[in-house]
Amino acid sequence: MARVSVMSRTAIAPCSTANLGPGYDVFGLALDALEDTVRITKMLGSGKIVIKNSDRAIPATAESNSAGIVVKRMMSDFQIDDSIEIQITKGVPAGYGIGSSAASAAAAAIAFNALYNLKIDKNKLIEYAAEGEIASAGAKHYDNVSASVLGGFVIGHKRQFIRIEPPRDLFLVVAVPISIQVPKKKTEVARSVLPKEVPLKSVVHNVSGASTIVAGFALKDVEMIARGIDDIIVEPVRKHLIPGYDSVKQNALAAGALAVTISGAGPSMIAFLKSGKKANKVADAMAKGFLEADVKSMTFSCCSSSGSHLA
Ligand code: HSE
Repeated sequence: MARVSVMSRTAIAPCSTANLGPGYDVFGLALDALEDTVRITKMLGSGKIVIKNSDRAIPATAESNSAGIVVKRMMSDFQIDDSIEIQITKGVPAGYGIGSSAASAAAAAIAFNALYNLKIDKNKLIEYAAEGEIASAGAKHYDNVSASVLGGFVIGHKRQFIRIEPPRDLFLVVAVPISIQVPKKKTEVARSVLPKEVPLKSVVHNVSGASTIVAGFALKDVEMIARGIDDIIVEPVRKHLIPGYDSVKQNALAAGALAVTISGAGPSMIAFLKSGKKANKVADAMAKGFLEADVKSMTFSCCSSSGSHLA
């Protein structure tokens, strides 16, 4: 018998950058650039989850796809036994550190919540969306999903999420090194190189940087945000995974960026600017930096996003 769609909801979620240097696993910033669209449809029948995906590189089983994991968990928690189709239209390239799996997971949580009128609060929606991060990172982390759901700049602490509206004159330029073949579980790999223990003086340095970033967002001061973007714990270890890292950073700073860091677990790099005037120049400089290492990149400039929404 032919399957008949009976009801569906669609949500759209933006890409994001995590860490912002010293805020490893704590800070997220939603980016008003690329986005994923997820449509969840209730089908006739029971207990089946079918994933339709615009990007063949993305896993298509409910157990290994970030949106699928979220929906599976929500179905189990709310004892929903319908058959579900998840249609994912990827706008965020996967594996480059700009919150691709998080965008799909966030959109899935929001669409599923709306479809079944579950009235789940945003904090809990972030918790569900973070389940999806297990698919790509091997561990739950909230930085990308919290930014993707709430928009703006988000601080996560003990599963509570604090959103601060970024300054209007904050501009970002992102260079995505698309010719790099990223490993399948890239985030897991990028996390495996990190030190298990850290000297106290490095922690003090990073906490002072992270605090300066938070103050900069709260006071709407882009230069202050940029001064805080100085990570001596994670970035020095991960930069070796990114061909061209040094030239991209130096070129962007020379072209007028106020700060440059790895976007999330990489390999994308993100530059922070006050106003969009120098954005093109910085984007070209970053692309040239990658080219010095024979890496082709895609660049985009953007402001912060206001977060996920129903279509
Ligand atoms: N905070 C995570 C990490 C972000 O750096 O591993 C992954 O996108």
